[in-house]
Amino acid sequence: MIKPVLISGIQPSGKLHLGNYLGALKNFVELQNSGKYRCFFFIADLHSLTESYTPKEKKAQIEDLMRSYLAAGLSPAKATLFAQSSIPAHSELAWILNTITPMGELRRMTQFKEKSGEGAESANVGLFDYPVLMAADVLLYDTAAVPVGDDQDQHLELARTLARKFNSRFGKTFIEPKALHTNVPRLMSLDDPQKKMSKSRPAGCLFLDDAPAEIRAKLGRATTDSGREIKYDEKSKPGISNLLLIHSSLSGVSISSLEKKYAGKGYADFKRDVAEVVVKALALYQAAKKKISPTKACAAFAKGGNASAKIAEKKMVEVKKKVGLI
Ligand code: AMP
Ligand code: TRP
Repeated sequence: MIKPVLISGIQPSGKLHLGNYLGALKNFVELQNSGKYRCFFFIADLHSLTESYTPKEKKAQIEDLMRSYLAAGLSPAKATLFAQSSIPAHSELAWILNTITPMGELRRMTQFKEKSGEGAESANVGLFDYPVLMAADVLLYDTAAVPVGDDQDQHLELARTLARKFNSRFGKTFIEPKALHTNVPRLMSLDDPQKKMSKSRPAGCLFLDDAPAEIRAKLGRATTDSGREIKYDEKSKPGISNLLLIHSSLSGVSISSLEKKYAGKGYADFKRDVAEVVVKALALYQAAKKKISPTKACAAFAKGGNASAKIAEKKMVEVKKKVGLI
């Protein structure tokens, strides 16, 4: 039986936080290990050029993310790993998709509105066009499933719209992909549980590379709610609910068992235990990452790059024939 294709990527543009892990990376590993999909995981390096960087920083960020993928458990033996920029077909397909994308669709994108802020006119064109390149990433591989956090849903909806539009104009070429979410599609910030954990607000982030002392201090400071009960209630207890989600997804203990376990106990005890669960879960990852050199990581991604280039080039021949370029 042919397995459905699954693909996802993360931008190398800063340190990974627990939201990236619980919403995306941890799920990449579980889906890879499920054996149900033909998996592709890539470094979205072209996407990351839409934000400010220096060339030296960029190179280091790319190597760091490659090492993080491997340390989290992605394996070149089970999945195809590559860097987006090593495969010209991604940009090439993005260009062709650009020509069937209405400007209005892109102007509506929440991420564009948030990232360009008041300065939409001075924002770079790449930031505006970002979702079209993402559609190309996905459509190129006849992808069925895309594991991401819920902030990417609008972008995937565009990928489906473009697939339908292309298919109806040029004949069946692309598959419409679906998003796969974890039970933490949107982890909230530690300092303000009304806002999502995001690298644009580092004060509320737990980073995967944080040392144990830092993790304990950050969780000790985490904003909690009035009242004393440890109960899952997103509306009236967003802080405690967020911490329950963190504990449960890393320890594997259900939220209702945690509520029972902490009945009658105080916030301080609970936060201390959450910190230990995080420290323990990240210790393995951090130790594994130390052992992976940038050279070893780059080699794994180069090998995957060769394999995916073949698939992508074949799809581009089909696309070019469909539109009449060849
Ligand atoms: P980015 O850092 O924007 O490239 O995000 C990488 C992945 O992490 C994407 O799949 C995002 O949807 C996911 N992600 C980012 N922030 C969060 C969050 N706070 N909760 C859950 N998933 C997230
Ligand atoms: N836009 C995604 C993010 O910010 C990264 C990304 C780029 C991606 N291309 C993709 C994710 C294709 C899934 C599939 O997180």
